[in-house]
Amino acid sequence: MPWFEPVSPLPARLVVLVSGSGSNLQALLDASRIRSYGAKVVAVGADRGHIPALQRASDAAVPSFVLPVADCADRAAWDSALTERVASYRPDLVVLAGFLKLTGAAFLARFGGRTVNTHPALLPAFPGIRAPADALRHGVRVTGATLFVIDTGVDTGPIVAQRAVDVEDDDDEQSLHERIKKVERGMLVETVGQMVREGYSIDGRRVRIGR
Ligand code: GRF
Repeated sequence: MPWFEPVSPLPARLVVLVSGSGSNLQALLDASRIRSYGAKVVAVGADRGHIPALQRASDAAVPSFVLPVADCADRAAWDSALTERVASYRPDLVVLAGFLKLTGAAFLARFGGRTVNTHPALLPAFPGIRAPADALRHGVRVTGATLFVIDTGVDTGPIVAQRAVDVEDDDDEQSLHERIKKVERGMLVETVGQMVREGYSIDGRRVRIGR
């Protein structure tokens, strides 16, 4: 069973990949100002330019890079280039925080077990990019957020943490997603901190933090 040692010495090095507003990134940037948190964002990568997340990185004086799929010969070349860029920052943990691309085989070979993704639903319900809308359409009364370790599928990897959020009668996609995102940010910050400080194991689909 793979066991990932607590990072030593702390702070752990995080590379965060983003595609949009970057509020989850911001939560990690804010947490890493506190020394005892045990992790810091050493780089931010994006698959597109001109997004608020990149401004957040720049405001925090964290280096960033942009690597659009269209700049590469094909998807595999993009995945290899992404893997090399991320590796150049020597991350202990990679965090996909609203990153709207599927990473591929090269990335998984290098960072499998050390890459987490955050998702705005209680997986395995509502995978994919329209999770809050899908949850509303289905009429569920409870949805939430999931942090999982990536694998080859779409939002299918072993689950590290989940938080529940009630669906209100008057919710629309935006109001529900905003409420989920508040809970999601807390879950992300808390869980990433625990993973790097305490170590974790992955036993099939079960992830356990600490010995
Ligand atoms: C999050 O809810 C994430 O789970 C989803 O998109 C949102 C990104 O938000 N994939 P932000 O860019 O971190 O503000």
